Amino acid sequence: MEKKIRLHDKTFKMFIPNQDIEKAIDAVAERLNRDYADATDEDPVVFLCTLNGAIIYAAELLKRVTFPLELKACKLSSYVGTQSTGYIRTEVPLPSHLEGRRVIIIEDIVDTGGTIVVMKDLLEAAHVKDSKVCTLLVKPDVYKKDVKLDYVAMEIPNRFIVGFGLDYDELGRNIKDIYVLDE
Ligand code: IMP
Ligand code: MG
Repeated sequence: MEKKIRLHDKTFKMFIPNQDIEKAIDAVAERLNRDYADATDEDPVVFLCTLNGAIIYAAELLKRVTFPLELKACKLSSYVGTQSTGYIRTEVPLPSHLEGRRVIIIEDIVDTGGTIVVMKDLLEAAHVKDSKVCTLLVKPDVYKKDVKLDYVAMEIPNRFIVGFGLDYDELGRNIKDIYVLDE
């Protein structure tokens, strides 16, 4: 029987099993380890984790990264329930002293791209040396912005998902597989 879960008022069905997610993360980590092999203790790469959704992805990814890095976090938010509001609030501001640094933004998912565009602008205003986007998931049918998505672990159709850090009104982040809204 197909695995289903219930969160608040909605039912979700199994979509991406944990082992597939982990394999996709292995591949991203390999690319990062190649691309940032020149990082040093004097010039560590800044991983900027976007709270709260990217926490689980960041933890799994960073366990596989072998070059010197610093982990920082910030929080922007746009979603209420299963819909993007299109309006983005800064809940935890960017860390200070990013000037001249190489930054990798860790995102759980790029949907409309509104969040990532704001992040990129904030980093530019902070005078970083370079910023890259590293996202677990992207919905290519929805994403139409110009910002390059440098590291994408998996592409998914335009469906609402939960698990592996992603929530439906704060529930479901601790589920180790990814589930899709059953409708
Ligand atoms: P964007 O600004 O439209 O790209 O939306 C990005 C944010 O919306 C992500 O970081 C998630 O927090 C949230 N989001 C987008 N799609 C989903 C989804 O399918 N499930 C849960 N959260 C989502
Ligand atoms: Mg998020």
